[in-house]
Amino acid sequence: MESKSDNVELLFGLETYTEFTNNEDSRRFIHDMINVLRSENVEQAVFEYCLRMIRDDELTNSVRSYVKDNDIQPIKDGLSRSQMRSKIWLIQELAKLGIKFENVVIMGGWFGQLVSVYNKILSFEKIRILDLEKSFCAASDYTFNLKYLDNYKVKAICADVNNLTLHKNGYEWKVENFKEGTKFNEKFLPDLVINTSAEHMTEEWFHQLRFKNLESNPIVAIQSNNMFDGDGHINCVYSADHMKKKFPMKEVLFEGELQLKGYKRVMLIGRP
Ligand SMILES: C[S@@+](CC[C@H](N)C(=O)[O-])C[C@H]1O[C@@H](n2cnc3c(N)ncnc32)[C@H](O)[C@@H]1O
Repeated sequence: MESKSDNVELLFGLETYTEFTNNEDSRRFIHDMINVLRSENVEQAVFEYCLRMIRDDELTNSVRSYVKDNDIQPIKDGLSRSQMRSKIWLIQELAKLGIKFENVVIMGGWFGQLVSVYNKILSFEKIRILDLEKSFCAASDYTFNLKYLDNYKVKAICADVNNLTLHKNGYEWKVENFKEGTKFNEKFLPDLVINTSAEHMTEEWFHQLRFKNLESNPIVAIQSNNMFDGDGHINCVYSADHMKKKFPMKEVLFEGELQLKGYKRVMLIGRP
């Protein structure tokens, strides 16, 4: 019966043959694969190999740069298959509305990874990524969205979304340069507000928008889930109906549920 070491032996044979035929690309590939198979931690070796080989992909480039100096755990959670499917679902549903968004706010935006999905289908003038955690904001500015940092086309704002100043003509917040510590005041009138972290916070941010009647009459897109026992999950929902009760919209443009591995993501898009 064939064993794992027979396969490695076969790879050695093919490596020797490709060396003989001067097929350098194939020889190098087989050689790298043998090294991966023989490493102590095969999963880690595969991961590092993929990061090394995938060159022209925006998100992979960001991950490569992030893991050089940071703990990889938040990336593993943030870029898991269910998280990616949820983000792609959101952006595809937003694209179906056929609206050209200009000023976008992403609440609880983590390290700003949503932008790499958003910019594949939708356009924008400016994006603001709001998060409580300064280290995530810095990762958004200097790693995940570095290419947009000029003129602050995409900029992270370190703030509690349930404690923002909002006028009829927009939010008012401090924009901080996280390297130099300098700050300035900015007014920002969004036509799209996204919150894919609704399960992590109470819903004052939504009621503030709802009762302020913003001049831009923004679209609000909210995702939560039914993982009631998840870490830090204080505001989960059972269903789209449940979500509509928590987040009453003047006009509902989309409501839906996406079955993921072991849990369900729920999404509501509308005008509050
Ligand atoms: C675990 S992550 C996001 C999970 C979510 N399912 C997603 O895909 O975006 C939750 C993020 O929300 C942020 N957050 C939680 N409460 C917040 C608040 N009140 N204001 C701003 N950011 C908040 C956290 O710092 C964290 O980066």
